[in-house]
Amino acid sequence: MSKSIKVNASVLCADFTKLEDQIKMCEDAGAEMIHVDVMDGHFVPNITIGPVIVEAIRRTTRLPIEAHLMIENPGLYVEDFISAGTDIVSLQVECYGVRTMESRAFGQYPKVLESFDASAASRDIAKIKARGKKVFLVANPATPLCFDSLLKEIDGVLVMSVNPGFAKQKFMMEVLEKIKDLRSRFDGDIEVDGGVNAQTAPEIVKAGANLLVSASYFFGSSNPKDVVKFLKSL
Ligand code: DX5
Ligand code: ZN
Repeated sequence: MSKSIKVNASVLCADFTKLEDQIKMCEDAGAEMIHVDVMDGHFVPNITIGPVIVEAIRRTTRLPIEAHLMIENPGLYVEDFISAGTDIVSLQVECYGVRTMESRAFGQYPKVLESFDASAASRDIAKIKARGKKVFLVANPATPLCFDSLLKEIDGVLVMSVNPGFAKQKFMMEVLEKIKDLRSRFDGDIEVDGGVNAQTAPEIVKAGANLLVSASYFFGSSNPKDVVKFLKSL
């Protein structure tokens, strides 16, 4: 059965001088979730926000909050994010296993996974489940779907369609095949993050995703309500 499309507004492109208004704007526009991009300057070449901001957002809305943890050793911070009010904790699978370091032009790196340690990931998944929260596993564009044994333990898979670190990047078309492949054997949520817009969203939905993250397309629009309406119509 096909799932209804939900829109997850990524506050990475929000105006932080008026965060409460921006969250209300997300609600009024019809976004169903709030996506918080947590970056540590190690896993990705950018530093953003942590549990303090999640806690502030929590006080402004009842919408579910997803913490997308683009950080090393995410398990160490799971409790903090949940205590701050996170409903969905999204763990990058590259954090569990052996990686090669591929340099980015400007000094840091996306990491290519050579082998995946499913039991280490499973331990962090269990921590989150024990607190009654949802868990998504996240795969970067270069990371294969190497976690089939964990699909029954998780609520969703977040398929990255850009290398994580920044908003406003270009959608990588090659991930469409990954989404199709996953949908053929996974009934949970399939979320897509990076470069979602009016051109790419129809393809993403056709491939089988049901949760769309958007930062620049949503916050950059003069009519975010129409953005949500369009995305949900797909
Ligand atoms: C990228 C982040 C995304 C980002 C999406 O590392 O994980 O959530 O905010 O930005 P847009 O929608 O502009 O591609
Ligand atoms: Zn994200």
